Amino acid sequence: MDRIVIRGGRPLSGEIAIRGAKNAALPLMAAGLLTDDRLVLGNVPKLADIETMATLLAQHGIAVDRVGNEGRVLSLGGAITNTEAPYDIVRKMRASILVLGPLLARCREARVSLPGGCAIGARPVDLHLKGLEQMGAEISLEGGYVNATAPQGLQGADIVFPFVSVGATENLLMAASLAQGRTTRANAAREPEICDLAKCLIAMGAKITGIGSGRLVIEGVPTLHGADHEIVPDRIETGTYACAAAIAGGTLLLRGGRLEHMAALASTLSEAGVEVTEAPGGLRVARLNGLHGTDVQTEPYPGFPTDMQAQFMSLMCVAEGAAMIPETIFENRFMHASELNRMGARINVHGSSAIVRGDASLQGAPVMATDLRASVSLVIAGLAARGETVVNRVYHLDRGYEAVERQLSACGADIERVSD
Ligand code: EPZ
Repeated sequence: MDRIVIRGGRPLSGEIAIRGAKNAALPLMAAGLLTDDRLVLGNVPKLADIETMATLLAQHGIAVDRVGNEGRVLSLGGAITNTEAPYDIVRKMRASILVLGPLLARCREARVSLPGGCAIGARPVDLHLKGLEQMGAEISLEGGYVNATAPQGLQGADIVFPFVSVGATENLLMAASLAQGRTTRANAAREPEICDLAKCLIAMGAKITGIGSGRLVIEGVPTLHGADHEIVPDRIETGTYACAAAIAGGTLLLRGGRLEHMAALASTLSEAGVEVTEAPGGLRVARLNGLHGTDVQTEPYPGFPTDMQAQFMSLMCVAEGAAMIPETIFENRFMHASELNRMGARINVHGSSAIVRGDASLQGAPVMATDLRASVSLVIAGLAARGETVVNRVYHLDRGYEAVERQLSACGADIERVSD
């Protein structure tokens, strides 16, 4: 099992290329089920989760080939030959549930394993299922699987989500694209990754309006055709490296980063003393002087992203003054706090909020990654810690970040990956 070793105290300087967004690539790959034509995706990140989705699609009959640009262009094609998504694949990656809507829309049946919970929460999929039932699906749960049929095909429906769900918005957007009639979706998620999926679906022939608003209107069409789509840059990867530059000191150019996709994060970083400015080809990030404790609350987009909460908490550990960080999206997303405290941070978690007392002098320590964003927050803390930090279980990191240690090492960090 690999681990990452960081010896802190070195400022960062240089340029990092921001790759395509993992959380856009996964639903876009699932969209490959919506047509037998070829769907070509560009700017695909090289991540473990992408490989898992490719394996899942292959057993549905969809071939996924890396066709160019160092394997960053995927070509998906083929007819669906199997409508079951097995537990041994779904349990590795929760986003597998995103094949449910497309399978049902194309084949009028699907048997998909329930993803189960994960480190950050129970992660139910009830909104996905209720939305599909409103569109005429008959759904039963048996042996840990969702059995879904739509003998008459999916019908358009007026769906109001009780709260924002990224995955449910994506699943139902894909399903509604091929449903009979109009589907309206109130309180839909508005993340840039969803706008990217909608843009690709339109290129495939879908009729979608209201993109980027909380209300989507989809006129179902009988079939969708192939398309060629470039995946949106990863705003969370951009924010992650911005926090790395902020905690280590120095300046980074994040090539491909888009300020308009991270306004809330940039504004919070600015309040904390970190300057994020547009520069030719991307974003320039630099810590101005000291870091200031800054309160922030996670919210659905366009609010401060929950996927940046752990990374920002690491930054607040060394900021002057305190920071209050309520986590409003997931019920158990503070597991990095106890690991950061082992490095000398002063964090108290009370229910769904954490108070970070700041002004900590972090010391290197062996720490344990528990989920994707928690693991990268430990790497960020290691950049500022005195001595050596060893982050174990970095397979979590590899699910969502391409070779973090190589990217940071090329910008001056003393960091390496050690394999057992
Ligand atoms: C997506 O997860 C992302 N994953 C997550 O990123 C991200 O944290 C999350 O959206 C919120 O932005 C992918 O896109 C692959 P939700 P998703 O449905 O779709 C509850 C990362 O680190 N809920 O918006 O699963 C749910 O439990 C990952 O890259 C229900 O109760 O998130 C959570 O509390 C982590 N019932 C809240 O809603 C449902 O049917 C938001 O979940 C669906 C969700």
